Amino acid sequence: MHHTPPSEHSDLVTSSLPWSPKNNRRVTFNAYGGPEVISVVTEPAVASPGKGMARVRVMASSLVFTDMLIRRNLYPMLKTLPGETLGYDVVGHVEALGPETTGPAPGTLVATLTQVGGAQDWVNLPAASLVPLPGHLDPIKVEPLILSYMTAYQGLFREAGVSAGAHILVIAATGAVGLAALDLARALGLRATGVASSRRKALVEQMGADFIAYDAPDFSRRIDLAAAQQGGFAVILDGASHEPLPAHLRRLARGGHYVGFGLTALLRRAGADAKGLRLIFGRLRLGMKVLRILATRLRNPNVHFYDIAGRRKAHPDWFREDLTTLATLLADGRIAPHISGVFPPERAAEAHRLIEDGSVVGRLVLDLRGSGVLP
Ligand SMILES: NC(=O)c1ccc[n+]([C@@H]2O[C@H](COP(=O)([O-])OP(=O)(O)OC[C@H]3O[C@@H](n4cnc5c(N)ncnc54)[C@H](OP(=O)(O)O)[C@@H]3O)[C@@H](O)[C@H]2O)c1
Repeated sequence: MHHTPPSEHSDLVTSSLPWSPKNNRRVTFNAYGGPEVISVVTEPAVASPGKGMARVRVMASSLVFTDMLIRRNLYPMLKTLPGETLGYDVVGHVEALGPETTGPAPGTLVATLTQVGGAQDWVNLPAASLVPLPGHLDPIKVEPLILSYMTAYQGLFREAGVSAGAHILVIAATGAVGLAALDLARALGLRATGVASSRRKALVEQMGADFIAYDAPDFSRRIDLAAAQQGGFAVILDGASHEPLPAHLRRLARGGHYVGFGLTALLRRAGADAKGLRLIFGRLRLGMKVLRILATRLRNPNVHFYDIAGRRKAHPDWFREDLTTLATLLADGRIAPHISGVFPPERAAEAHRLIEDGSVVGRLVLDLRGSGVLP
């Protein structure tokens, strides 16, 4: 833990925006639905932080598939109401600590997972949840580490305990988490095979991975073949849920791990507005419970259904340690998040449209560094 006592020195604050109760921009949604329900509201900012809280001037937040699920009321882990603020994570500078609160000193660059509420200029957050980071890092480049890289990293190293030299299969390889996994594999000495659509072949190969197209007619057989060639994969990191679990289990090496974390293929197949989607995924909160029970019932310690918020709750120390590790890899230039767009809050709906039509490679980032100050 890297807690320092509260500081009286407000001149340490590095935010370019002066504190004002008038100018908080937040990205919200008026109803469950498509990107058109997104709006940006400017209103009085958060009050002073209470005991145990810190006020953070946010520099960057998420624009990811999961935000889209939350907006459509399809997110299995959390019930969110229209009017709430989006933003699955936060990178920013501590501005003030609440009374009798210890935490990173004002001016410190910090990051944390919020699930909702991160996409606004200022937010009060529990001081103990903030992970201090080297102040010279670019907040835009740090932001993908919190959700996307963390999911890939913990899936590979905490869930599966993979070691250097192992061969992993990454399914949904050019998405936010998938590209993070390929980047980490390259940095940390894993061999990788990536599964994405045929248009992404060059990118996957550029990341140093072998490529298999999921839109090729014989793609299942190709994965079987690739598995057989090396005596099975050490880890299958699956963000698509395109194929049933037994298909993956037969592709694992002895002692290998399956780590499922996402449902992109299932969701795309159903179509974002389909009635069936609501029927199936409106019940996903229940669905996830069933999956977990199923995993326990299988009594297979090598099958994991990763849930970042649940993992952080169970092991806040791992989250802190792993985010620090990822920030060090970034600072040392060993990883390089693939950011294909940076959007201010006013263009958040446009970014959500790109996420929905499946055209995003890697990550989009919400940029809150600009001025939201009213004249
Ligand atoms: N469990 C957790 O804690 C956790 C954490 C983060 C994310 N997630 C979830 O994980 C999923 C992926 O997240 P993300 O942010 O990486 O999403 P994303 O950026 O939207 O990922 C899209 C990727 O999925 C690929 N894809 C689509 N259909 C596929 C199929 N049938 N087979 C293989 N790949 C397919 C796409 O390939 P093409 O573009 O080539 O079609 C693209 O590479 C989402 O469901 C998200 O909500 C869960």
